[in-house]
Amino acid sequence: MPKSATVRVLLFSASLRADSLNTSLARLARTVLEAANATVDWATMNDFDGPSYNQDVETGPGFPPGPRELHRRLEACDAFVIATPEYNASMPGHLKNTIDWVSRIRPQPFNARHGLLLSASPSMAGGNRGLWSLRIPLEHLGARVFPDMFSLAQAHKAFDEHGALADGQLAARFGENLRAFLDLVEAAKHYPCIKKAWVEFLGEPGSTVGRVEAA
Ligand code: FNR
Repeated sequence: MPKSATVRVLLFSASLRADSLNTSLARLARTVLEAANATVDWATMNDFDGPSYNQDVETGPGFPPGPRELHRRLEACDAFVIATPEYNASMPGHLKNTIDWVSRIRPQPFNARHGLLLSASPSMAGGNRGLWSLRIPLEHLGARVFPDMFSLAQAHKAFDEHGALADGQLAARFGENLRAFLDLVEAAKHYPCIKKAWVEFLGEPGSTVGRVEAA
């Protein structure tokens, strides 16, 4: 069996803009993942975006289509990869909003799912602070966020005319980062960790928190 043949990865850029640097990085990630025989479910933030979270909407008309779609596609994958912009030293509000919506749907799909975080920015830090902020809700929700994150600095100058990284050393590191992640996802798929349950508020009875089950 080829390496990583059985691993299915949801991949999306969290930028909503057409000329996004993060979407360029996500495209490159797709090439590397597919070359390593992973099956990639390519998505865009437009597939998952929704109105601001409102509990009255959740308990009334119900979950909006975007967050429902992210829930559905996470459930169908072994792992996820997000390439996200950094806004004001944090993640974009629309990404946090979608995570908040999805966190209310059961089964809560981030729990025990492996995730890899990428970012691209014109700045010298490459959007890395945004990724640290993104780890917080994802880890809270039980996702296994890969320790190595990839942040592309000066991203507006980093791609060559074919969409690859112009710097060979950086390109090699990017590939190694993605393949190391896939190895872990594949290993975890065949030898699942015993921890499955996700408890939102330790010490509080679950019945005090209202939840709507996924249809
Ligand atoms: C930014 N940008 C930015 N960049 C950065 O490195 N650190 C930051 O804190 C911010 N803050 C920020 C806030 C807001 C509201 C905007 C619109 C932009 C710049 C950002 O990295 C740049 O616009 C990227 O090109 C956005 O990513 P995409 O859309 O190209 O993927």
